[in-house]
Amino acid sequence: MTVSASVGESAGPAASGEPLLKLRGISKHFGAVQALYQVDLDLPAATVTALCGDNGAGKSCLTKTIAGIYQADEGEIFFEGSQVHIRSPKDSAALGIETVYQDLALADNLDIVQNMFLGRERKGRFFLDEDDMETAAAETLAGLRVTTVRSIRQPVATLSGGQRQAVAVAKAVMWNSKLVLLDEPTAALGVAQTQMVLELIRRLKDHGLAVMVISHNLNDVFEVADRIAVLRLGRMVAQDNISAFDRETVVDYMTSGGSNRGVPAVATQAAL
Ligand SMILES: Nc1ncnc2c1ncn2[C@@H]1O[C@H](COP(=O)(O)OP(=O)(O)O)[C@@H](O)[C@H]1O
Ligand SMILES: [Mg+2]
Repeated sequence: MTVSASVGESAGPAASGEPLLKLRGISKHFGAVQALYQVDLDLPAATVTALCGDNGAGKSCLTKTIAGIYQADEGEIFFEGSQVHIRSPKDSAALGIETVYQDLALADNLDIVQNMFLGRERKGRFFLDEDDMETAAAETLAGLRVTTVRSIRQPVATLSGGQRQAVAVAKAVMWNSKLVLLDEPTAALGVAQTQMVLELIRRLKDHGLAVMVISHNLNDVFEVADRIAVLRLGRMVAQDNISAFDRETVVDYMTSGGSNRGVPAVATQAAL
């Protein structure tokens, strides 16, 4: 697997150097349910990694563990090569990890600018006035070529699903995130809106960010991902560059945990 060959000198963010985020042996249980079992995952910079798996495979649980909402029972997390302890969403945000959930956590009654500064507007070194906030929001959206919103002062409730996703992603970019986690960002979207969100994901990658996207839609996965990681019943059963997979092998891994179609299994990661 590429993962096992990835330790060594980095020749650039997209090269096979040390991944931005590295999970090793992450386990998590809820009562009798073992949601994650000894999960290894690499999320390299400037790379889109698709996390695939059937319902209940542990995708959201893994996302929430990286985001600091859940704490793993065991395992290690490395960020930029150093071990880190993510005990809260605040820890995760401080590292530059931004999570975009399916329900987005945008405040409907607030406008786009207010949403993009929500929770940060009066904190730290950012003492910005309304004009500065509006300019920063507008510039970020323009930089991502989000041009379909009529006014950045319109309430988020009036936006389409795709536009809401765009605002959530733009918020992540504006705060200089290094890693963006998207849990089923296109699940509720139509065809055109989905294309818009996939295009945004490509731009995040072009900006050098590591992106992890969860999707049930293999068309989306094969359109946008550079790497694929497959969870099945809480175990990482395959992880490799997209060229090592086709739709059938991904489905094989999702449903049976293996494939006899020639894709190597994930077991070689253990050496790390
Ligand atoms: N807060 C929780 N309490 C109890 N069980 C949970 C909780 N979160 C997830 N689980 C269980 O963990 C497993 C993985 O869930 P989840 O990560 O949501 O799957 P996915 O996102 O891949 O559909 C499921 O069996 C689910 O019921
Ligand atoms: Mg889920």
